[in-house]
Amino acid sequence: MKIIMLGAPGAGKGTQAKRIAEKYGIPHISTGDIFRANIKEGTELGLKAKEYMDQGLLVPDEVTIGMLLDRIHQADCKNGYVLDGFPRTIPQAESLNKALADMGEAIDFAIDVDVPDENIVNRMGGRRACLKCGATYHVEYAAPKADGVCDACGSGLVLRDDDKPETVQKRLTVYHDQTQPLIEYYKGQGVLHSVDGTQAMEAVFESITGILGA
Ligand code: AP5
Ligand code: MG
Repeated sequence: MKIIMLGAPGAGKGTQAKRIAEKYGIPHISTGDIFRANIKEGTELGLKAKEYMDQGLLVPDEVTIGMLLDRIHQADCKNGYVLDGFPRTIPQAESLNKALADMGEAIDFAIDVDVPDENIVNRMGGRRACLKCGATYHVEYAAPKADGVCDACGSGLVLRDDDKPETVQKRLTVYHDQTQPLIEYYKGQGVLHSVDGTQAMEAVFESITGILGA
């Protein structure tokens, strides 16, 4: 099963993708998480990505597309995957389509987690992230068991550099300009499904499993 998560920054793509990956036994591939892991390790890719991410801008397609295509050709992807944060531009979607078509494959589901902008800024300010294992928390809606400590791996939790309100605003603008057109793109391919992302996390997950099936 090959799934794409669409939605604004902070819509809950990562939260839901993690649960989808667990339920269906497929890898959760987040381009944002891959970039953050590289930033943490100080790699050349990380240094390049950070320049853009800290400004709320997209990392250029020529960096991002190759990285993602390499990842989906790895052995653990043979039964599918859930992509979180990719594609984010029409050229990214077209490259993915072409790479899949070359293998005789296609995306099965594109799930748009729909949350209006006014809900987003509040969510981002309360988000806490584990840069080691990628787990995400919220001080109010999904608090870790111990304050500031990741339940999954015990590392310290941080407020992401790009979650400052002014950067969130920029990310939303970039989302509307460059990523939202993908909703029409995948509608045209007959694989688009929308869920109301303002519901509680569990209810959003139920809506998604209703679409994906048991
Ligand atoms: P990325 O890491 O993908 O960030 P994003 O798309 O901006 O999305 P977020 O991770 O911020 O939000 P999310 O939708 O995953 O929400 P979450 O589940 O955490 O990308 C970061 C940057 O990397 C980009 O800006 C760009 O620079 C670069 N990049 C990445 N991919 C790229 C690409 N393909 N091309 C170019 N550049 C790329 O939830 C948010 C918060 O809300 C959490 O605290 C969560 O606990 C809480 N929450 C979730 N669901 C609910 C709910 N139902 N009710 C209440 N609270 C909830
Ligand atoms: Mg995320």
